[in-house]
Amino acid sequence: MYILGIETSCDETGVAIYHSTQGLIQHTLYSQIAMHNEYGGIVPELASRDHIRKLIPLIKECLQLSQLKKADIDAIAYTAGPGLVGALLVGAAAAKSLAWTLGVPALGIHHMEGHLLAPMLEEHKPEFPFVALLISGGHTLLVEVQGIGQYQLLGESLDDAAGEAFDKAAKLLGLAYPGGPLLSKLAEKGNAGRFKFPRPMTDRPGLDFSFSGLKTFTMNTFNHTEKTEQDKADVALAFQQATAETLAIKCKRALKQTGIKRLVVAGGVSANTKIRQHLEIMTKKERAELYFPRPEFCTDNGAMIAYAGCQRLMAGEVESLEINARPRWPIDELVQTQ
Ligand code: KG4
Ligand code: ZN
Repeated sequence: MYILGIETSCDETGVAIYHSTQGLIQHTLYSQIAMHNEYGGIVPELASRDHIRKLIPLIKECLQLSQLKKADIDAIAYTAGPGLVGALLVGAAAAKSLAWTLGVPALGIHHMEGHLLAPMLEEHKPEFPFVALLISGGHTLLVEVQGIGQYQLLGESLDDAAGEAFDKAAKLLGLAYPGGPLLSKLAEKGNAGRFKFPRPMTDRPGLDFSFSGLKTFTMNTFNHTEKTEQDKADVALAFQQATAETLAIKCKRALKQTGIKRLVVAGGVSANTKIRQHLEIMTKKERAELYFPRPEFCTDNGAMIAYAGCQRLMAGEVESLEINARPRWPIDELVQTQ
């Protein structure tokens, strides 16, 4: 069964073809980052319009690279939420119309389920159950995963998501959007130990996160410096160090609380090498296994949506022809597949 995956929830148009037995056949991606860059953040209306421009050409390119025709597609999976409603509607409308003309099913996928299952696209993939840390621009979630659709929320950010905190801290330091990767690059030149940032919510029990205080701390610290390039790098390093340690402390707690020895880390921020290093050290000490998707599948992509769709379609899940877009959609509302 060939599944076409479509991702348009935010600022990346992602398309992929996944085969139920052969695995990932092909994936194509178009990033809108350069377009949003001059506004210092995502402009939702521009995002929707660009998805309209890029989606059909990307689907054609993906089919061509796979040496497949439209008629070879057996099902379509698309991101139904959470995300920007206009952007979601572009993918949902395209998926439903194409499915209708081809006479195949189309299924709406939860974007974070896509991220959560992205490590399954790798050769070194986890077995169930596992604990998943999902760190993206819009979400910071700790989830206990017993199987596809069996998700128990263990903790989440009470304010800014980890990626959002990276982007806001980066903006304060004068970096472009999205600042996460740029802040991380800048931190390489930083002097460790010059500033000590707090590790929010680690001094009390629980698995929730809060990153907005770190952003304020970053601003206050930076405003008390001369704002030289070295000051910027030192602040960036202290911020990254605090975020990485906080995430590692909470993941360790989640592993202890659930008794599970497998940790999956996914979402855009999981591309951060320092965060990966902290989690590697922690899991080694805890004798737990650690799984990441390859960096291109950490950020938004169509492959993770095609994979999640394949699992749900094979379990017999179906959807009406209604166009489905849910800008807000808690992950623990997802139902288990058979
Ligand atoms: O998962 P994703 O591509 O989109 C959402 O679903 O939000 O995540 C994007 C987020 C952005 O906030 C970006 O700054 C952050 O991931 N990010 C990083 C890195 N690469 C991407 N943050 C820190 N370090 C990185 N290397
Ligand atoms: Zn995402």
